[in-house]
Amino acid sequence: MKKTVLFIAAVALLAFTGTAMADINIKLAVVTKPGSAQNIVAAKFEELIAQRSGGNISVKVYHSASLGNETEILQQIQMNTIQMAVITGGPFDTFDPIVRVVSYPFLLKDYAQADAILDGPLGAEILKSLERSKIKGLCFSENGFRNLSNNKRPVNTPEDVKGLKIRVMSSTIHKSIWQALGANPTPMPWPIYTELEQGVIDGQENPLWVMEVYKFYEIQKYMTMTRHVYSCHIDVASLDWWNSLNPADQALIQKTIHDAAVFERQDNRSKNAARLAMLKEKGMQIVENPDIQAFRARVADLKNLDLYSDPQVKALLEKILDAT
Ligand code: PAF
Repeated sequence: MKKTVLFIAAVALLAFTGTAMADINIKLAVVTKPGSAQNIVAAKFEELIAQRSGGNISVKVYHSASLGNETEILQQIQMNTIQMAVITGGPFDTFDPIVRVVSYPFLLKDYAQADAILDGPLGAEILKSLERSKIKGLCFSENGFRNLSNNKRPVNTPEDVKGLKIRVMSSTIHKSIWQALGANPTPMPWPIYTELEQGVIDGQENPLWVMEVYKFYEIQKYMTMTRHVYSCHIDVASLDWWNSLNPADQALIQKTIHDAAVFERQDNRSKNAARLAMLKEKGMQIVENPDIQAFRARVADLKNLDLYSDPQVKALLEKILDAT
């Protein structure tokens, strides 16, 4: 009798704690450190989802590439050993060619266009396509307009880029852009401070927040506001994990990650003027008005590359080019 009572009490306790504790535990990975754009999305999502789910959904953020580089994180997302991640558009293009479209040079010209395209049906087509790679695309957050920095010389025109060893992401289109511009593009996973410091590479290209958070002003003398790609982050989940959730949890996670992304985009945009002023104060020589027409002319033919020969990819690129 005593044993039966104990057994019933244990079962009741298990049932109780099962509903009282977090039901869904999410491992969320990013390669950047706290204060970075990805981390701002991740931290906001962690905070909002805990509030909105009454503690039933909990997130643990793994930052600074502690679970691997962006390609390795995406592989773990496919296997559902990581449930969610915020990943730069670039490294996706070896998983699905459709993502090459968003890295096309000089495609999105301002924030209004970026939001309209990426939050609209064309962005939705890109997110949906990732499902064939076992990745659930949830929404886009912002990395920002990419600018070139280097330690050799001021860059005003593509002629000045000639021969510079520029680190690029593991991305076919990013490599092609810098080849077309005459640089010597060198793919390398993040982070890259030591390689810049030791002169293994002459330069890199990234949005202003990177120059600030990673203190590149300490080791890069020159920056040019090339704004050659509006770089997005794609906020993703493991498709297998996603399919195991009930529709209410899916809807809550989907809305909350989008709210976190919108929060981060505004945060990023509001800080850029101060970042530019700070970089000048730190002694960087900044070319604010390079010969953009000359840069555009050098990359004008990239849509004819094999990279864009897939009919869906080609059609989507044309649609976005028409809309922007
Ligand atoms: O250059 C990169 O790898 C990315 O832009 C970074 C810095 C990881 C942010 O997304």
